Amino acid sequence: MKAIVITGASSGIGFEIARLLSRNHLVMGIGRNKTNCEKAEELILSENPDARIVYFVADLIQQHEVNRVADEIIAYLESNKNIQLHGLINNAGCVRSWYTTSDEGYEQQFALNHLAGFLLTYRLLPFIIKAKGRVIMTGSQSHKGIKMHWSDVMLRKRYNPLTAYKQSKLCNILFAKGLDDRLEDTGVKSYVVDPGLVKTDIGNKQTGGLVNLIWSIRKKHGVSPEVPASTYEFLLEKHPAPPGLYYCLFKEKAYSRQVTSENADKLFSLSQKLCGISYDRREKRL
Ligand SMILES: NC(=O)c1ccc[n+]([C@@H]2O[C@H](COP(=O)([O-])OP(=O)(O)OC[C@H]3O[C@@H](n4cnc5c(N)ncnc54)[C@H](OP(=O)(O)O)[C@@H]3O)[C@@H](O)[C@H]2O)c1
Repeated sequence: MKAIVITGASSGIGFEIARLLSRNHLVMGIGRNKTNCEKAEELILSENPDARIVYFVADLIQQHEVNRVADEIIAYLESNKNIQLHGLINNAGCVRSWYTTSDEGYEQQFALNHLAGFLLTYRLLPFIIKAKGRVIMTGSQSHKGIKMHWSDVMLRKRYNPLTAYKQSKLCNILFAKGLDDRLEDTGVKSYVVDPGLVKTDIGNKQTGGLVNLIWSIRKKHGVSPEVPASTYEFLLEKHPAPPGLYYCLFKEKAYSRQVTSENADKLFSLSQKLCGISYDRREKRL
């Protein structure tokens, strides 16, 4: 049986991907809130009693929580040998109006939107390689028109919510490129999906004042989260694996010129340091 891990699967885009994929796969969803995860599971099963779905609760802003939930997922996979981890969708994301940090001291948008996926992918990599699976990040068109702030990547000195968000979305593509380059010989493929403007509550959760107001107006023009969900299914299932990195509505799209090998390698090294891991050493052990 093919399993797909989806982060941020309790609402918005991640929930719709879970609803769609649980028809044909075992979906292992991750959400930060137990009640929201239970509601999501109940809704999916009430519509489709044959859906295969299991939720794990973890606050992925915190690295110790990413490691804990990775341990739980690994234990699940090891005790169900018939399950192959065919895909990992790093989708969980947040917006923060103010500079706030994780328990490890990392800015929260950078921590959740980028580092959580970087660390979770590392932890689950042996299973993904074994299944020649696919890793997909939820990116955004907003990554265009920004450069990495290498001298202050967490924007400690001059925080701006939109700059932090855009940069975290640029990190999604740089990570996908870095991963793709490193795993070229393994049969694993990485992508970023740009879901377009989607009507979700992302900008209304733990935000305040202006960010909350702007998002409440902006999201009215968004599409339903069902619209982007099928592009994830396409990228997971299509054989041979579609070429390229960045997709919107089934089509490969151009991404920022900031997505270079140099920037991808620089982000890879920095993220390894911030997570206390080494992909290179892990790869050699496989
Ligand atoms: N909406 C758009 O127009 C748009 C456009 C481009 C890209 N995106 C990207 O799409 C992704 C999903 O966003 P969305 O719009 O679907 O927003 P959403 O409805 O708020 O969904 C975010 C998901 O992430 C979960 N989450 C939030 N903080 C978490 C944490 N600390 N630990 C674990 N899970 C956490 C949420 O849990 P709860 O259910 O408990 O809140 C929810 O399941 C994000 O990466 C976002 O950057 C969105």
